[in-house]
Amino acid sequence: MSWIQLPQTRLWVQDQGRGPGVLLVHGFPLDHSMWKYQQEFFLARGYRVVAPDLRGLGQSPPLDEVTTMAQFADDLAQLLQALEVSPGVIYVGLSMGGYVAWEMVRRHRRWLRAMVLCDTKAAADTPEAAQARLQLAQNILQHGMDELDRTMREKLWAGESSTRQEEDVEHIHQVIRSTSPQGAAAALRGMAQRQDATELLPQLELPVLYVCGDQDVLSTPEQMHQMAQATPGARWALIPQAGHMAPIENPQAVNRALEEFLDNLS
Ligand code: MLT
Repeated sequence: MSWIQLPQTRLWVQDQGRGPGVLLVHGFPLDHSMWKYQQEFFLARGYRVVAPDLRGLGQSPPLDEVTTMAQFADDLAQLLQALEVSPGVIYVGLSMGGYVAWEMVRRHRRWLRAMVLCDTKAAADTPEAAQARLQLAQNILQHGMDELDRTMREKLWAGESSTRQEEDVEHIHQVIRSTSPQGAAAALRGMAQRQDATELLPQLELPVLYVCGDQDVLSTPEQMHQMAQATPGARWALIPQAGHMAPIENPQAVNRALEEFLDNLS
């Protein structure tokens, strides 16, 4: 891991391997380590794997009161530039990492070769959901991350049938509890004001794979299947025994879907 200096900030980044680029973009309020099984997968297949902690999350320092999805995307484009990655990367994002993907398409399309979007949504927040996020941001700033961590324990994971490893679950909750309240609040405010991307889907002119845990309650299989149907030529993988954290709950099934997607790319 190393610090990469960008014009406005610095990001904590894992950059491993040589070959075509893969950019792994974590969800909220997580960090790069949620991708450990996909890092291994892509490295074994000869890719260069770049996995940053987004601004204000993981080890990357918070900077703003609001971090928009566009700002995260601008950071990522600057990061790829700073690392001298060749344009044409496979963008892999989970949940908030998917919201950032829409801004990569809108603002930095030239960097993208293909996208893998896991457990995410195209729709913007309803006014009620946006309001709840703003309140949560306030709560986190006043009381810290513990309450959010407790709520997330109920929402992130599949039920008992899950194939996940308990140490992975505990690691993720450790990451959540260690997140900077300022960084988490800024990301929540940014998510509350994100643009709806539904109309972007029929215009996506790049290969897309949608991945969803069959027990995801935050971005449901029904919602994600509709996104896949709205995206020309998109592939769809429903991951058994997994919730919102499919890549770490059932990495074998997610990596099999990645393998098939890569086989059909060129
Ligand atoms: C995430 O995993 O990134 C969050 O569930 C996104 C959200 O709060 O909408």
